Amino acid sequence: MKVSIIGQGYVGLTISAFAAAKYEVVGFDNSQRVVDQLNRGISHIEGVDSAVIAKWAKAGSYRATSKSSDIKGSDIVVIAVPTPLTNDRKPDMSYIEAACKTIAENIDRPVLVINESTSFPGTVRNFIKPLIEKLSANKFEHMYAISPERVDPGRGDYNQKNTPRLYAGLTAEASEKTRDFYSSFCDQLVEVSSPEVAESAKLFENTFRQVNIALVNEFAQIANKLGISVHETLDAANTKPYGFMKFNPSAGVGGHCIPVDPTYLAYIADQLGAPSTFIERANDVNLEMPIYIVDRVEEDNGGSLKGKSVLVIGVAYKPNVADVRETPAEIVIDELRKRGAVVAWHDEIVGNWRGETSAPLSGADIAVVVTLHDEVKQSAVMASAPYVFDTTGKIKGAKTL
Ligand SMILES: NC(=O)c1ccc[n+]([C@@H]2O[C@H](COP(=O)([O-])OP(=O)(O)OC[C@H]3O[C@@H](n4cnc5c(N)ncnc54)[C@H](O)[C@@H]3O)[C@@H](O)[C@H]2O)c1
Repeated sequence: MKVSIIGQGYVGLTISAFAAAKYEVVGFDNSQRVVDQLNRGISHIEGVDSAVIAKWAKAGSYRATSKSSDIKGSDIVVIAVPTPLTNDRKPDMSYIEAACKTIAENIDRPVLVINESTSFPGTVRNFIKPLIEKLSANKFEHMYAISPERVDPGRGDYNQKNTPRLYAGLTAEASEKTRDFYSSFCDQLVEVSSPEVAESAKLFENTFRQVNIALVNEFAQIANKLGISVHETLDAANTKPYGFMKFNPSAGVGGHCIPVDPTYLAYIADQLGAPSTFIERANDVNLEMPIYIVDRVEEDNGGSLKGKSVLVIGVAYKPNVADVRETPAEIVIDELRKRGAVVAWHDEIVGNWRGETSAPLSGADIAVVVTLHDEVKQSAVMASAPYVFDTTGKIKGAKTL
C-alpha cells in the first residue's frame, strides 16, 4: 500500500518514520532543501532519528520528493502542512488549500484523505472535501477523515506509539480505513462520532493549556504584590490530591500550537456567534508576560536598563529543542533593547537565530533565563552575571517570578 504524506516537518516526518515500517511512504514537501536533506538520510526534526530515515530509504519504503506527481498511485494521502495565523490573527488556510490542490491535480483514483493539520471544526467536511472536489471536477469519490496530531517534539515518555490517537471519518468506511492505517504504529485508537468532535478536541486540549498558563501567569503577578513565593504557593496547592492541576508560571507561551490553536477555536466561535472571552484574554495575558518580566528586571536594577549588558539565556520556546517559533524570548529581547539594554543571548541548541549567534554564558551585568535546557548548568548561569532573573523558577538563588 502506498501512502503519501504532504509536508515533511515535525508532524509529517514523524508519521513517515513510523508508517514506513509497514507501507511504501512518499514524503512530499515543497521545500527542496528539506527533500534533499532527507534523501541524504539526514533528519531535520528532533525526535526523528536520521538513522531511521536512512534505514527506510535503503529498504525502499521511504523517499522524499518535491515532485507532486510522485503522489500518483497512492491509497492514502495524509495532510501535515502548517496552519499558522494571518497578520490579522485569522486562520491561514493557504497551506491546506495548496495541499488540496496537489491532491486534486495528481491523485488518479479514489483514495483516503486524512487531515493531521490542526484546524477549526468543520475543516474536513466543509473545507477540504469541497475544495478537492471542486479542483478535481469531482473526478473521484474520495474518503475523508481527521486524526489530529498530538506529537510533542523532543518528549521522551510519549510518542506516536503510546499516545492515544483520536480519529473520525466522514463515513464509516473512512473511519475503518483510518483505524487500519494508524493501528500499525499506534497502540490506542479512539474513534469519536464525527470529524468535528476530533477537530474540536484537539483545539480544546491546547486551549486548556493556554488558559491555565495565563491563569498561573496572572497569579504570579498577584503573588509578587502579596510578597509571597508563587512557586511555594503552587506547591502547597498541589498537595490537594484531587481537583487541582499544577501549571508553572513562565515568560509566556511559544511554539506552533499553544499560541495559535486557541485562535482557531475563537475564530469558529465568532463565526457561530458564541463567546470566546477566556481564549482572547488568555492570549493577551501570555503575550504581556515578556513585558512584565522586563518590568521586573528593570525595577530590580535601579529603574533603568540603559547601557546595561543583558544576557538572555535559552531562546527556544521550550527546553531541549531548537524550535524558536513564537518564542517569548523574542519579545523579551526586543523589549530589553527598546529600553536601551545591550542584549546578547545564549542558546547552544538554537545556535543561530535572527542573524545572531549564541553568545558565551558569561560576563553580563544581568542574566534573564527564559528557557532552561538540561545541558545548561545552573552554577554557570549564576556565575554569568551578578543579577540573575530566572523565569523558570528552577535556579536556586536566582530572582524569580
Ligand atoms: N509541531 C507540533 O508539535 C505539532 C503538534 C500537533 C499538531 N501540529 C500541527 O500539524 C501541522 C503541521 O505542523 P508541523 O509542526 O509539522 O509544521 P512544520 O512547519 O514543521 O512542517 C510543515 C512542512 O510542510 C511543508 N509544506 C508547506 N506547505 C506545503 C505544501 N503545500 N506542500 C508540501 N509541503 C508543504 C513545509 O516545507 C514544512 O517542511 C500544523 O497544523 C500544526 O498545527 C503540530
